[in-house]
Amino acid sequence: IPVLLIWAIVGYLLGSIPSGVVVAKAMGLGNLREIGSGNIGATNVLRTGSKPAAALTLLFDAGKGALAVLLARAVSGEDAAQVAALLAFLGHCFPVWLGFRGGKGVATYFGIMLALVPIAGLIACGIWLATAAISRYSSLAALFVAGWTPVVMAFTTDGKAFILAAILGLLIYARHLGNIKRIKAGTEHKIGQSKS
Ligand code: G3P
Repeated sequence: IPVLLIWAIVGYLLGSIPSGVVVAKAMGLGNLREIGSGNIGATNVLRTGSKPAAALTLLFDAGKGALAVLLARAVSGEDAAQVAALLAFLGHCFPVWLGFRGGKGVATYFGIMLALVPIAGLIACGIWLATAAISRYSSLAALFVAGWTPVVMAFTTDGKAFILAAILGLLIYARHLGNIKRIKAGTEHKIGQSKS
């Protein structure tokens, strides 16, 4: 089996672990699908009212992305790391365990970027924090990250990492179409708010 295919599979399997669902269940917080946006990410876990559960979800979702990249890189090099990164992201968004109905990929994106291109990852975190602090919308912050990180990377990194960031940015955008509608309609939930 080609090495890159192996890392695609490992990346997908790591990415497909639905941390939010597992954490919410383990902490008795109910069914995420019936809470807030229905999403499985840390933002929606926060809507259960449990900050520790949201923090754990963020940590695990980012961690699995970082782990996929670091493992692949350590064993097989940079191309493998990029393949594992892409598939970890897709695994989070389309996990076989949840009938391919997964999350929006933002926490996993942070883990991937921090491991793949640390400076870009840090800048992405900064963009998220600044946008979230001003707007209080997690989704809007994610959209800013999706759009601006590749722009920053166009000037700071090599071609392949930039292309990967651009692809992931488009996927993040595609996963947030419902949020974009809600932002336009003025019905999007603010961070930590369970009702709009
Ligand atoms: O990372 C997901 C976030 O951007 C939006 O989450 O639950 O408000 O759709 P949510």
